[in-house]
Amino acid sequence: MQPDRPSRPAAASPGADLASETTCGSLGGRRILVVGGGQLPSADAGNPVNNGRAICMTLSRAGASIACADKSTEAAELTVRSVRDGGAVAIPADVASAAGIKGMVQAARTALGGLDGLVLNVGISRREPLAELTADSWDEVMAVNLRAHMLTVQQALPLMSMHGAIVFVSSVAARLPAGMNPVY
Ligand SMILES: NC(=O)c1ccc[n+]([C@@H]2O[C@H](COP(=O)([O-])OP(=O)(O)OC[C@H]3O[C@@H](n4cnc5c(N)ncnc54)[C@H](O)[C@@H]3O)[C@@H](O)[C@H]2O)c1
Repeated sequence: MQPDRPSRPAAASPGADLASETTCGSLGGRRILVVGGGQLPSADAGNPVNNGRAICMTLSRAGASIACADKSTEAAELTVRSVRDGGAVAIPADVASAAGIKGMVQAARTALGGLDGLVLNVGISRREPLAELTADSWDEVMAVNLRAHMLTVQQALPLMSMHGAIVFVSSVAARLPAGMNPVY
């Protein structure tokens, strides 16, 4: 998605400024699946670290092990290389497809040896105004931004440890009615 955020100075490598901060260790031993945890490469040197990668790096810095799921294997692997401490593994998965979600959750659980947390970060936007929206594009965005979260939780809950946690990422756009991007 096009970032709404201002650019900031480029780090030596993606997220290197975040990775150099001190580990706090409060999530030691926790195994967390982050859906949409990747970040595609950008030619823009000032491109900020996106939400998914920042979440993976921050959780890892706190000691968690991360399964980074993304429809782009390259994006997921770039995030995995930015993560340290608890370690991370890339899980290729397109959550627009209901069929792939069960496999994503199972792969994360197998790779991490269990599941204590879930971060549903994935969210897409096409910035189509109401007059240009089609039924198909409405369904495509809803399949990722809404249906995928429900299906992932449905698959993950029975596998999650007691006292696990689930975080849904949204946007302030959800609180601002606007005709320029209604599906988002
Ligand atoms: N970018 C912003 O300015 C902004 C502002 C407020 C909230 N948010 C929210 O933060 C979340 C992340 O936004 P972002 O801009 O950092 O993300 P992004 O657009 O950078 O995408 C993150 C990753 O999601 C992956 N992805 C996209 N579709 C997928 C699919 N079908 N299956 C699996 N992976 C898929 C992409 O490959 C990418 O690596 C979203 O929920 C968004 O609504 C973003």
